Amino acid sequence: MKTRRYWETAPIPELYEWFATEVQPSSPAWARVSRQVATTPSVAYRLGALPPAARQPNLFFGALKFLGGPLDADPSLPDWVADHWPQVERLVTTRFTQTNEVGRCAVIAPVLASLPQPIALIEVGMSAGLGLFPDRYGYRWTLEDGTVVTGGTPGPVTIECRVTGTGLPLALPDVAWRAGIDRNPLDPEDPDDAAWLRALVWPGEEIREQRLAAALRTVAGHSALRVAGDITDALPGVVAAAPRDATVVVVHSATLAYLPRGARTRHLELLSELGVHWVTNEGTKVVPAVRDALPAGFTDDPRPCFVLALDGVPLARVGSHGQWLDWL
Ligand SMILES: C[S@@+](CC[C@H](N)C(=O)[O-])C[C@H]1O[C@@H](n2cnc3c(N)ncnc32)[C@H](O)[C@@H]1O
Repeated sequence: MKTRRYWETAPIPELYEWFATEVQPSSPAWARVSRQVATTPSVAYRLGALPPAARQPNLFFGALKFLGGPLDADPSLPDWVADHWPQVERLVTTRFTQTNEVGRCAVIAPVLASLPQPIALIEVGMSAGLGLFPDRYGYRWTLEDGTVVTGGTPGPVTIECRVTGTGLPLALPDVAWRAGIDRNPLDPEDPDDAAWLRALVWPGEEIREQRLAAALRTVAGHSALRVAGDITDALPGVVAAAPRDATVVVVHSATLAYLPRGARTRHLELLSELGVHWVTNEGTKVVPAVRDALPAGFTDDPRPCFVLALDGVPLARVGSHGQWLDWL
């Protein structure tokens, strides 16, 4: 995963060629559109003139899907972009890449369950807050020998995860209190927010999109403290509000890469100062302490992945949507 600096500065043809390679395994359709963008000067010119933060390819693809544009490479794409540019520009400059992936609960929940219970769960960068309710979903963890471990609450959301190696028990936490922080908290019950979240799921991943829609319905109406603000500025106040008889744990999932390097360092220092447990589910290079503690040979595996870690100690290599978990 490239950091924010790359997508803010790379030339559009290079950026969209890179994105095509990135999405190819999960969404060949978006890979084809991405290559078309890279080689269509009229579209590349418009995207190149956007403010830096709006240049992230996922924003353009979200807008394309949200507005009913072509979902595969198509000769009509340049005209469609020209005709819809005011709407596209409004979306990419006012919305963010807030992909809320409920599948990540399958890898994070066992780490939360390994701490003294009950827990006070704080997710920074919560998006719509789906990660605040790991106890509301059903799980099927499939082990190497084919054994299936089930858990959680049976219902419309069942999360599948393939597990290899030996690690923590595949269990769920007892969540006594939950809070999320986001600069732009999304409301699971707001139709526009739900439509934007669904638009962020790539064509070819319809099962993920259906699960997302079911998860949004599942958490609707369930209460959690939802704080609008910066994850570092707001965290001390949220930690102070947590009940004293629960273990406070702060979860970061696909969020820290969005912070510029200095802000990321400040945030990680704050976690130490607050004395809380912290779980990270981030790209390999995002958290320096985790990166430096990876076992030799970790990067030999070419699969794109996240690293799951507790208090800076790496525990597992995981699929970025929680679809698999290899204990280290
Ligand atoms: C890619 S989403 C991940 C959502 C969720 N953690 C998950 O794993 O499904 C990243 C979220 O972090 C939020 N975010 C990024 N930087 C932030 C900051 N400095 N302060 C508050 N929220 C931030 C974004 O608004 C977005 O909702």
